[in-house]
Amino acid sequence: MSTPSNTGGTPEQNGAPESLHRRLLEHRALLFAGLTTVGISVGGIVEIVPMYSASAGPESMEGINPYTPLELAGRDIYIREGCYNCHSQMIRPMRAETLRYGEWTRAGEVAYDHPFQLGSRRIGPDLQREGGRYPDSWHYEHMRDPRSTSPGSIMPPYPWLYEQKYEMDDIVATVGAMQTLGVPYTDSSDAAVRQSVTAQAGKIVAGLKASNATVAEDDEIVAMIAYLQRLGVDGKAALAKRSAK
Ligand code: HEC
Repeated sequence: MSTPSNTGGTPEQNGAPESLHRRLLEHRALLFAGLTTVGISVGGIVEIVPMYSASAGPESMEGINPYTPLELAGRDIYIREGCYNCHSQMIRPMRAETLRYGEWTRAGEVAYDHPFQLGSRRIGPDLQREGGRYPDSWHYEHMRDPRSTSPGSIMPPYPWLYEQKYEMDDIVATVGAMQTLGVPYTDSSDAAVRQSVTAQAGKIVAGLKASNATVAEDDEIVAMIAYLQRLGVDGKAALAKRSAK
């Protein structure tokens, strides 16, 4: 009446044929330990050896340049404000993603991002290829009042970016820090950084004035716009060049 079970007794008692692993390994602790060690070592070697022979850091990619100092300042504001809580910067290699956002993200594209902003939450859209998608004036309006450009948006407004000023000294320090981390800035001197920031900010402000937005060169929003307009631009160009070959 009772159905055969493998929860009690030996296979022989239950009438089942004795399995190979039982015959070879059971009650042979030393042999079993030996084989386990060999197994784990093989797994370990396969994982560890390539780590030493591969070049350090992420895949490098031609055509990817470091952020300008002003963009770096915008990036610091992006991190300070926690934009990564709602926005990723990583387009996955899936059709639905590439149709919506463009080319998927290559590791080399974020080689100069310290710390990277790939993100893991998407309450808003991915921003990796945000650069050039909208004019500066769109970002100017959107950051002040997201619903004015995107009806029904749940993104919070950031009015203080229009009052607070970025600190030139902080930008100089950030560029220096990035250089220490291996980002190839050729000139991180105070004068060079100031000149680069003023030139780029001047252009953005002039463009915004043309669309009737009043803004000062050192308003944080200017750095923010510079950063957003740079996102994914180098990578997009590099990948287009790659596929044209
Ligand atoms: C509470 C979540 C949330 C936070 C925090 C947030 N966003 Fe958004 N963001 C959204 C949502 C939702 C949208 C889509 C609707 C819209 O355009 O406003 C969006 C849209 C955007 C867009 C337009 C994207 C596109 O291509 O249409 C940009 C640019 C943007 N956010 C930048 C930022 C920046 C910069 C910050 C930080 C200062 C930030 N967001 C913080 C939720 C958020």
